[in-house]
Amino acid sequence: TKGGYPHFMFKEIYEQPESLASTAAGLEPARLEAAANALLAARNVYIVGAGTSYHAGLILAHLLPRLKLTPVPIVASEYAAYEPLFDKDDFAIAVSQSGETIDTIKAVRAMRERGVRVAAVTNVVGSTLSRESDLVIYTRAGPEIGVAATKTFTTQVLTLSALYVSALRLLGYDVAERERELKAAPDLARRVVEKTAGTAKDLARRLRQKPSAYYLGRGAALPVAMEGALKLKEVAYIHAEAYPAGESKHGPIALVEEDFPVVFVFSDPATREKTLSNVAEMKARGAFAIGTVPARSDYAKKLDVAIEVPDAGELTAPIAHVIPLQMLAYFAAVERGYDPDKPRNLAKTVTVE
Ligand code: F6R
Repeated sequence: TKGGYPHFMFKEIYEQPESLASTAAGLEPARLEAAANALLAARNVYIVGAGTSYHAGLILAHLLPRLKLTPVPIVASEYAAYEPLFDKDDFAIAVSQSGETIDTIKAVRAMRERGVRVAAVTNVVGSTLSRESDLVIYTRAGPEIGVAATKTFTTQVLTLSALYVSALRLLGYDVAERERELKAAPDLARRVVEKTAGTAKDLARRLRQKPSAYYLGRGAALPVAMEGALKLKEVAYIHAEAYPAGESKHGPIALVEEDFPVVFVFSDPATREKTLSNVAEMKARGAFAIGTVPARSDYAKKLDVAIEVPDAGELTAPIAHVIPLQMLAYFAAVERGYDPDKPRNLAKTVTVE
């Protein structure tokens, strides 16, 4: 049941501290290590998923070059073009909340046929994906009823980060700090939910009549921006596009005029300064500049409306910054009179190609 909450999506956004805590508690170090070992030995690392699950995968893809690994992110429905690459020296990580998305399952079948070992990250025990993979790592978000993925996304990000940290440990790095960071994720999410809901709600009111918005970010903030834009489209039916902030100059900026909303995601510490120059360019064209920024930083001053997010390390910042974007989409849907739990044209699980 909705347990007193107006919608499942709202309940599930608020449940994230708990879903992250149960996911962290349920992660089995031996399984993570088995996956990390396979990862480190791989020639290519395919990261495959659809929609929100693909976005979670992109966050891991961003980290892998640091391990001298070659990530090949694949939108599940587009796997065919990559088929000639698939080989027994490769490893794949398939991300799917339901474990039943046909595009992801087909990609996994094609990979395994050619000898690729596959680790699944899924929220559903006994799902098709879990049965058809070599190794399964479960997120423990609990059932997600709202059609828009929220708590399953943040638990995927936590799980994939834990896999990355496990690989770092195998390589002999001191990971104590990063382990502390991951452990603190549920508390971080709790503070984010408490501190950002009010601003997200006010902002949703201001976006109510907007036909369109951009979401911009650099580095690991880009997949967070993509996820924010997807949420807004899905439940509020406002056209939203995410671009790498730097790429926005190469065309998308042409659309920007007075009051055009541009949401900047400042989750990635390594790219914040460069993102500021994109804020200036957009503001010069009259954009309504919005952003998720670390609390007590100067970034807020550069924006028209800033959602201040408790400061977080680089692995958990995507979790901290996506939560207010989920809320923004939720409140925008409600403001516009739509039921965020039942977006038109969408099914919770897509079982046709
Ligand atoms: C977004 C959403 C979809 C799913 C996608 C993959 O809110 O719900 O984009 O993320 O259909 O679903 P799973 O993760 O079940 O494979």
